[in-house]
Amino acid sequence: MFLHTLSTLFLLLGLISSTTILAPHSGSWTAIAPIALQPRQEHGAIKLNNTTFYILGGIYPFTNSTYPTVTTVQKYSLPTNLWTTVAPLPLPLNHPNSAVVNGKIYVLGGLTTVADSTTFWNATGACFEYDPTLDVWTSIGELPKGRWTGSAAVSVSGSTVYLAGGLANTNLTDDEEGTISLFTSYDVVTKRFAVLPDMPEPRDHAGVGMVDNKLYVLGGRAYGHNNTKDTVFAYDLESNCWSTGLAPMPIARGGGASGVIGTQIFVIGGEGDQDTASGVSPQNQAYDTATNTWGSYASMDIPRHGTAGVAIGDRVYIPGGGLHEGGLPTNYTSYFQL
Ligand SMILES: *[C@@H]1O[C@H](CO)[C@@H](O)[C@H](O)[C@H]1NC(C)=O
Ligand SMILES: *[C@@H]1O[C@H](CO)[C@@H](O)[C@H](O)[C@H]1NC(C)=O
Ligand SMILES: *[C@@H]1O[C@H](CO)[C@@H](O)[C@H](O)[C@H]1NC(C)=O
Ligand SMILES: *[C@@H]1O[C@H](CO)[C@@H](O)[C@H](O)[C@H]1NC(C)=O
Ligand SMILES: *[C@@H]1O[C@H](CO)[C@@H](O)[C@H](O)[C@H]1NC(C)=O
Ligand SMILES: *[C@@H]1O[C@H](CO)[C@@H](O)[C@H](O)[C@H]1NC(C)=O
Ligand SMILES: *[C@@H]1O[C@H](CO)[C@@H](O)[C@H](O)[C@H]1NC(C)=O
Repeated sequence: MFLHTLSTLFLLLGLISSTTILAPHSGSWTAIAPIALQPRQEHGAIKLNNTTFYILGGIYPFTNSTYPTVTTVQKYSLPTNLWTTVAPLPLPLNHPNSAVVNGKIYVLGGLTTVADSTTFWNATGACFEYDPTLDVWTSIGELPKGRWTGSAAVSVSGSTVYLAGGLANTNLTDDEEGTISLFTSYDVVTKRFAVLPDMPEPRDHAGVGMVDNKLYVLGGRAYGHNNTKDTVFAYDLESNCWSTGLAPMPIARGGGASGVIGTQIFVIGGEGDQDTASGVSPQNQAYDTATNTWGSYASMDIPRHGTAGVAIGDRVYIPGGGLHEGGLPTNYTSYFQL
C-alpha cells in the first residue's frame, strides 16, 4: 500500500516537472505455486500465450556428485495456478535456447552433459519444434557447425529467432567457460539459418529483449561467473548493425532473468555479486529503450539466478532458479508486477 502511494507521488512529481522520474523500487512481488516434481535451475522459460508459460530442461538438485541435466518440460497455467508435465525434450539440456513463434515452441541448441564426465557441459546444435496442441517434439536439424551454443540471448521478430552469444562449453570444476560472440538466426518459415555480424564482445547469461525491431543484450558475463558485465549492446534489425555506448547497467550482473514491459527491459536477479554472502543479486533494474536510462524496482522477494523471465502484460514471472552462486536449485516461483 505504502509503495503504491509512493509511486503515485513520484508519478505526480514526474507529471508536474514533465521529466521522467522513475519511482525508486516500485512494483511488487507475489508468490505462486512452486514448480512441481523437482526444484529447477538453468532451464528455459517462455510464454506461449497470455495464460500459459513453459519451462524446459535445466538441472535438478545436486545428487550423485553432479547436477543432473534433465529432459523435463512443464507448463504453468495462470488461471488455475497449476503445473502440468508434458512431453519431455528429446535429449537432456540445460541452458536451452528457447523461443515461441506462431504458437510453437522452438529449442535451438543448449548445453548437454559430455558422456564421460559429470563436470563438463558442451553445447549441442540440436534443434527441436514443439506443438503444444499435439504435445509432440519434432527434430528440425542442427545449428550450423561451429555456432553451437547454450545460454545465448534469445529473442524473436516475426518468424525469426535470434541467438546472440552464449557458451560453447563450460567446465564446472574450474569455471573455464567458452563464451562466444557469434550471432545466428533461424527463420521458422523458410527453415534457414543465417550468419549475422558478431556481437561487439562475447557474452553469455545476458539479459535480452526485443523492442521496436532492436535486439538488446544487457549485461551478462564473459569467461566465468565473476566476470560480470554492465554493457548494453543493441542490434538494429533494419540496419544490421550493433551499437555500443548505451547507458550501462547500474550494477554489472550475469545470470539474471529478463522480460519486456512496454519500452522497458527488466533484468532481475543474477549471480557473481561480491556484496552478498550467497553471491546472488537481489537487484531488479530496467533499461528504458525510449530514454536510454535505467530505473530501479522492487528487489526480488527471494533472490535467484539461473532462470528466465516470462513477461505477460505488466508482470514478469520467474520460475525457480538457483539460490546460491553456481547452484542450489529451488522450486520457488513468483512474479514481479509493475
Ligand atoms: C518445494 O520445495 C519446498 C522446499 O524444499 C518443499 O517443502 C515443497 O514440498 C516443494 N514443493 C513442491 C510442489 O514440490
Ligand atoms: C494458451 O495455450 C494453452 C496451452 O496450449 C491452451 O490450452 C490455451 O487454450 C491457450 N489460450 C489461449 C487464450 O489461446
Ligand atoms: C544415484 O546413483 C545410484 C547408484 O548408481 C542410482 O541407483 C540412483 O538412481 C542415482 N540417483 C539419481 C537421482 O540419479
Ligand atoms: C566438448 O568441447 C570441448 C571444447 O570445445 C572439446 O574439446 C570436446 O571434444 C567436446 N566433447 C564432446 C564429447 O563433444
Ligand atoms: C576441467 O577443469 C579441471 C581443473 O582445471 C581439469 O582437471 C579438467 O581436465 C577440465 N576438464 C576438461 C574436460 O577440460
Ligand atoms: C567468485 O567470487 C567469490 C567471492 O570472491 C568467490 O567466493 C567465488 O569462488 C568466485 N567464483 C568463481 C566461480 O570463481
Ligand atoms: C495478451 O494480453 C495483452 C495485454 O496484456 C493484449 O494486448 C493481447 O491482445 C493479449 N493477447 C491475446 C492473444 O489475447
